[in-house]
Amino acid sequence: MKTDFLVIGSGIAGLTYALKVANHFPEKRVTIITKASADETNTKYAQGGVAVVNDLENDSFEKHIEDTLIAGDGLCDEEIVEIVVKEGPARVQELINWGARFDKDAEGDYRLGKEGGHSEFRILHHKDVTGKEMERALLEAAEKTPNIEFIKHCFVLDVITQHHLGYLVTKSTPDIECYGVYVLNTNNYRIEKVLSKVTLLATGGNGQVYRTTTNPAIATGDGVAMVYRAKGRIENMEFIQFHPTALYEAGKRGQAFLITEAVRGDGGILRNRAGEAFMERYDARKDLAPRDIVARAIDNEMKIGGTEHVYLDCRHMDIEKFKEHFPNINEKCLSIGIDVTKDMIPVAPAAHYSCGGIKTDEWGRSSIINLYACGECASTGLHGANRLASNSLLEAMVFAHRCYIDAISRFDLIKDVPEIPDWNAEGTSEPKEMILITQSLKELQQVMSDYVGIVRNTVRLQRAMKRIDLLFEETEGLYQSTFVSPQLLELRNMITVGYLITKGATFRKESRGLHYTTDYPEKAGLVQNIVL
Ligand code: FAD
Ligand code: SIN
Repeated sequence: MKTDFLVIGSGIAGLTYALKVANHFPEKRVTIITKASADETNTKYAQGGVAVVNDLENDSFEKHIEDTLIAGDGLCDEEIVEIVVKEGPARVQELINWGARFDKDAEGDYRLGKEGGHSEFRILHHKDVTGKEMERALLEAAEKTPNIEFIKHCFVLDVITQHHLGYLVTKSTPDIECYGVYVLNTNNYRIEKVLSKVTLLATGGNGQVYRTTTNPAIATGDGVAMVYRAKGRIENMEFIQFHPTALYEAGKRGQAFLITEAVRGDGGILRNRAGEAFMERYDARKDLAPRDIVARAIDNEMKIGGTEHVYLDCRHMDIEKFKEHFPNINEKCLSIGIDVTKDMIPVAPAAHYSCGGIKTDEWGRSSIINLYACGECASTGLHGANRLASNSLLEAMVFAHRCYIDAISRFDLIKDVPEIPDWNAEGTSEPKEMILITQSLKELQQVMSDYVGIVRNTVRLQRAMKRIDLLFEETEGLYQSTFVSPQLLELRNMITVGYLITKGATFRKESRGLHYTTDYPEKAGLVQNIVL
């Protein structure tokens, strides 16, 4: 099929862009493809909220810029930081106009939250389910827009470029163009092509590459892997943010429930096994230091104490206020026998956010012509070496707008897509054993968690690379010889992403932000992005 504007992903980035393009060009067709149900996204799980300057009496753009730069540890693109912070309020207002509701006090003023690394209260939130509310509002608006169509439960395999026309495309090919995507229709297991003059990748994060993550199962880094295969530019993949406080449940793998940083913003205190409030030993900002510092401190306390978690103490907090701000967390804790007025919450760090990704410019353009990237899969330069809490939803909205402005201004100048061959599945047959896929995934997650986690060193990275090479070779064998399934495609993508994280970490001979290696504990003199 052919569409005018193709969007991969139905989280905040994809939906915001689609709504804007569709409203601008009511006669054009906007197609959103998503591999799960439309609302199953990282966006839906966001808790803390959106960082945005809206109280100019007590806050300023300069302070938000400064906080973002400090968290980013010298690697943010200052021009991009300024763009996001200053354009943010207008984008948030648009979201409110589409129907998103943020908590207000009795006077009708927004209740502002605070999280690690923020010098002011500036986080708009909807209780502790901000993402669910934003996703609801955006989906409702998109579903009411007649020229937006959804293709759900379909898995995008690859972006189509000149490579699929038989031309040799390498990293140094200057004019790689995107013509759309190949997609696995999981209703009939056929691979179809969806062609478009303009494609936006909004495929989200990659937390599933690790053993425990706050991310849902969809977060497998597909967009990054596709662009890498298409010879587009990827950068700074080593900066994986581990959220300090995911709920620890013994023996649980995969998606972990998040205890939002806003709990610490409201007074929650981290304690070790001995009951000591240890953060003051690590940073003057204590429990509200930036995430990289808090996650490393917890990791260290766990290693010293030989424990699998530390505690978040909320027992001193006003329970009525707690229940009002964090009803979802309170309910989850009660469901597993934790009463926050009496018990401390067991927490441990979990993979949370990918700061690097598909390299884009200030208009969200990737290095592949007519291919935009936006949201968590993109690397815009905002986050540098460590994302400031609650800056991600903001970045997605600001860049969705920028991609839209650029795409509509160029649309009429883009030539029609050429004739594209059908997918060639020759030589493949029914897979015999799913265990080959599920076991390799477990191995990958184990390797990444053990060797490319919060604290790294050269020996561990070398070990990880050897294991990943083997997994790559075995999985390519399966991919070449069997019918593809979403599980196989995700495994293949996650191996590529694991490889990119490890390669970035190996190239970065310094410790900066989220990348900490005991072999190079200091920052290097030369500040550089690692482009893969
Ligand atoms: P997503 O919302 O993840 O959407 C990705 C979409 O791409 C999905 O629709 C998926 O199905 C689709 N997709 C992926 N691959 C394919 C494929 N191969 N084929 C077809 N479709 C595909 N950030 C904040 O700023 N504030 C917060 O409070 C906050 N809290 C968070 C709490 C949690 C638990 C988590 C996990 C994240 C949180 N974040 C927060 C981060 C933020 O939620 C995400 O970075 C952001 O929502 C990402 O949005 P996105 O649109 O880029 O991707
Ligand atoms: C949280 O609520 O702690 C997550 C916020 C974020 O990831 O930005």
